[in-house]
Order: sequence, then C-alpha cells, then structure tokens
Amino acid sequence: MRLVILGPPGAGKGTQAASIVDTFNVVHISTGDIFRENIKNDTPLGKKAKSYMDRGELVPDELVNDLVVDRLQKPDVENGFLLDGFPRTVNQAVALDAALEQMGTKLDRVINIVVASDLLIDRAVGRRVCPTCGRTYHIKNQKPAVEGKCDDDGASLIQRDDDTEETVKKRIDVYERQTSPLIDYYKAQGLLLDIDGSKDIDVVFEDIRAGLDKEA
Ligand code: AP5
Repeated sequence: MRLVILGPPGAGKGTQAASIVDTFNVVHISTGDIFRENIKNDTPLGKKAKSYMDRGELVPDELVNDLVVDRLQKPDVENGFLLDGFPRTVNQAVALDAALEQMGTKLDRVINIVVASDLLIDRAVGRRVCPTCGRTYHIKNQKPAVEGKCDDDGASLIQRDDDTEETVKKRIDVYERQTSPLIDYYKAQGLLLDIDGSKDIDVVFEDIRAGLDKEA
C-alpha cells in the first residue's frame, strides 16, 4: 500500500505511523525524521534545514523533493510506504505524483488527521522524544514508566527544539497557509480518508485501520 499521512503539527502523524507501518508492513518515510537525523550528524543538508526548522518554517521544496524521490527508489519501498510530513506544499505533491507516475505506480490513500488547534499546542509542547530510538511520549497523555526515561532503552527524553509554544503556533500557521490546500488537492483525486484525531490514540488507529481495510 502506498500511503500519505497528512495533518497539522502535533496531530499524531508520527504516533499513528508507528502502528500503521507494523500492521500494513510498509516503510515509514518521515521527512522531519530525515532532517533531524541530518542535523544530529551535522551534515550539509542538516545545516541548511536547521535554520528553517528552528523558525517553524518549511525547508525549501528543492531540498525536499529530490530527497524523497531518491528514497522512493530504494528496494525496501517495493512493498509500500507511508509518507509522513511529505508532501507539505502543492508543489511537493505535484513532484510526488510525477515521480510515482514515472515509477508506474500511484498513491492508494491519503490519511488526513483532523485535530483542533488548542489540542495541537498542548500535544506538541508536552511531547518528549527519545534521542536514541526516536520513540515519542507525552508528559500527560503518554507517560514513560519512569519519568523522563525511554521505556525501550532508558535514554533521557528530550524536547524538540521546535516544540516551544511560540514555534508550534508558527508551525500551525504555516500548515494552514501552505499545507492545508493539499486536502482539496487529494479530495479531488478521491484519495482522502478523514480521521478524527482528537480521540484516544488506540481509537484513532482503529479508525485508520477500518478506513484502510475498507478501501483495500
Ligand atoms: P515534522 O517532524 O514532520 O513535524 P510536524 O509535521 O510539525 O509534525 P509533528 O512531528 O510535530 O507532529 P505529529 O503529527 O507527528 O505528532 P506526534 O505523533 O508526534 O516536521 C518538522 C519540521 O521539518 C517542519 O516544521 C519543517 O521545517 C521541516 N519539514 C519536514 N518535512 C518537510 C517538508 N516535506 N517540506 C518542508 N519542510 C519540511 O504527536 C504529538 C504528541 O501528541 C505526542 O507527544 C503524542 O504522544 C501525543 N499524541 C498523539 N496522538 C494523540 C492522541 N490521539 N491523544 C493524545 N495524545 C496524542
């Protein structure tokens, strides 16, 4: 299955992606994770991306499109993929469509996670992540067994640099202006699966699973 997961910052895309890739046996491709890994490793791409990310702005399309198109050529993608955080502009969506067409394939579904803005701020500001394995927690909704430590590897949890209230508000604004037009773009293609992301994590996943099973 070839999937995109769409939704504003803090909607739960990464949280749901973890369950979706396990259940549907597809590869998770998160552009945010790819950029954060490059920042951690101090690569030229990471250096370029960091200033945009810290300001809550989008990294320019020309830095993102080739990266994703290259990733989609890798053999592990053959069984399907879940794109998380890409596309984020209509330009990126057009580039994705063109790349898939060249590969002789196309998207099956676009999961659109819908959550109100006040919840988004609380979720993103309260998020904590494991710097070693990337697992996501929340100070209220998804606590680790031992406060501040990852359940899987015991590493000390950190807060993402772009999860301050001010930057989250900026990211939501950027989403509204630059990414939300993709909802109509994919609706017009008959691909959109709207999901109420304000419910509990497990319930949201069951709704996604039911929606994807129905279409499969
Ligand atoms: P990216 O990493 O993609 O961030 P984002 O889209 O802003 O999304 P988040 O990771 O903040 O949220 P999420 O929806 O994954 O929520 P999560 O599951 O963690 O991008 C970061 C930056 O990189 C961008 O700002 C941009 O600069 C750059 N970038 C990336 N891709 C780009 C592209 N294609 N083009 C240009 N620039 C790009 O959940 C959040 C919290 O809520 C967690 O703590 C979780 O535990 C909790 N939670 C989740 N679901 C629930 C629930 N149902 N109930 C209660 N709590 C929940």
